[in-house]
Amino acid sequence: MPYSKLTRLAFAIVLFIMASSCTELANESLRGTIAANGMVSTAHPEATKIGVAILKQGGNAYDAAIAVQFALAVAYPNAGNIGGGGFLVYRKSTGEIGSLDFREKAPLSAHKDMYLDQDGEVIENLSTRGHLAVGVPGSVDGMTKIHQELGSMPFSELVEPAIQLALNGVVLTDREATKFNGQRKNFIETNSHTPYLVSNTPWAKGDTIFHKDLAATLMRIRDHGRAGFYEGTTAQLIVDEMMRGGGIITKEDLDLYQSVWREPMTSSYKSYRIIGMPPPSSGGVAVMQLLKGIESYDIGTWGFNSTRTIHIMTELERRVYADRATYLGDPDHYQIPADKLISDIYLKQRFSDIDPLVKTFSQSIKTGSVNFIESIETTHFSIVDVNGNAAAITTTLNGSYGSKVMVKTGGFFLNNEMDDFSVKSGVPNMFGLVGDKANAIAPQKRMLSSMSPTIIDKNDSLFMVVGTPGGSTIITSVFQTILNVIEHGMTMQEAVNAKKLHHQWLPDHILYELNALDSITYSELEQMGHVLKQRDGIGRMNAILVLDDGLLEGAADYTRGDDIALGY
Ligand code: GLY
Repeated sequence: MPYSKLTRLAFAIVLFIMASSCTELANESLRGTIAANGMVSTAHPEATKIGVAILKQGGNAYDAAIAVQFALAVAYPNAGNIGGGGFLVYRKSTGEIGSLDFREKAPLSAHKDMYLDQDGEVIENLSTRGHLAVGVPGSVDGMTKIHQELGSMPFSELVEPAIQLALNGVVLTDREATKFNGQRKNFIETNSHTPYLVSNTPWAKGDTIFHKDLAATLMRIRDHGRAGFYEGTTAQLIVDEMMRGGGIITKEDLDLYQSVWREPMTSSYKSYRIIGMPPPSSGGVAVMQLLKGIESYDIGTWGFNSTRTIHIMTELERRVYADRATYLGDPDHYQIPADKLISDIYLKQRFSDIDPLVKTFSQSIKTGSVNFIESIETTHFSIVDVNGNAAAITTTLNGSYGSKVMVKTGGFFLNNEMDDFSVKSGVPNMFGLVGDKANAIAPQKRMLSSMSPTIIDKNDSLFMVVGTPGGSTIITSVFQTILNVIEHGMTMQEAVNAKKLHHQWLPDHILYELNALDSITYSELEQMGHVLKQRDGIGRMNAILVLDDGLLEGAADYTRGDDIALGY
């Protein structure tokens, strides 16, 4: 249908000109990037450009996703990675759906109490910083599996753009320079060598960083695929690094690592089908529980961030996060009642004690006491190609730059994903999340995640691809963004930009972004018993919406990050 595509393109150009020349109109309805043939939304302009270039060369969404993953490892090393892990949710143009779990695993010699001292108390920072915090990375295995099953271009051509980026250098944005400078001390203290990202003078916007060692590692991956990371030189560099810093990942751990194709979770919200990541992510279960829970409330009429809407969202979130802590973990190690948790019968009973006017105290749902330490790292990207194939990938090192351990001469950071386990029953992790047996540490087990790459279809057609970083706030950010479009009539970009709130059962307070609430709503919520705390940056979404006319609206959170959506 070349004629209709041309028409759509012409329409896209008109929209673009209107958007750039008419600020008033743009303010009335703020659209993201509009394109007819394909869309890539990522956390970094270089990665987005590389993804679009692959699509233009005829690559499909999965080719572009592989190229973007490697590009982010270069351009966005605080979350983009080869030393971490993640999840893919996909929906092919044929309607086939699937998911790949390339989450990190606990090393063979990991054990339940490995972060506790002789008195059984948690040793500070041991699961979050340094070599012992590192889980066996899954990203490279994941990319090779995606390539085998879903890719169409030669693997080497998908890694090559990242190599060129690493060799030619990446120009720092203001935000990135600040982050590097902020971590300087940690980088020096955590490593026995000085990572090349440590500069004698502070980094500044416009400086170029060359990633020579990382380029060499990527060349080995380009030439040998999985073996370029889990065997040979790279594997040796990782094991040497572990030995230098008291880590426990061995060659056998690397050898054994395999990512896993899993049946995605599906559920419905009104006439939409939600396709999400199953455990070991809690994302699919939790987003589906929340959407099912809110389905019967008329929040479209109540309004965006109105008192009633926020109260009901909060009460649902309180219960959903309590379930997360109790029931969710690695399905290969623990029996997870995922389907039961999203069943209508269970949810009706679970949410039956919600009072529309008064808050419930989290302690009355289940006891526990936690602190909340902020971190919003991890990164998400959404891609749709010309044929309508869709990829939603959320990938992470966990904290910013993961464990802060950089593999000497490998040029890449290793994750601190071990902190996503429940290191001690009821004791919060860095996101303030608590857990129990389901998420206890065991050799070869995957740690529970909140990552929620999500695809939505309607009447058998693709509707939305969405996801975000943000640790425990990932679930609630995805929840709100979906509702912003479906219930509050926002464009994809408006939904991404919209101010967000978060509640996670414990601690028992609502986090809100500046300007998320007006003063009346604030005091009404207080009167209902809610405790409110302001926090910066909830969510940093990368999403794509298929518009009624078939055009794609790509949205990227340029308000909270350097994110950009581009299409063609
Ligand atoms: N590391 C963040 C998550 O997986 O939820």
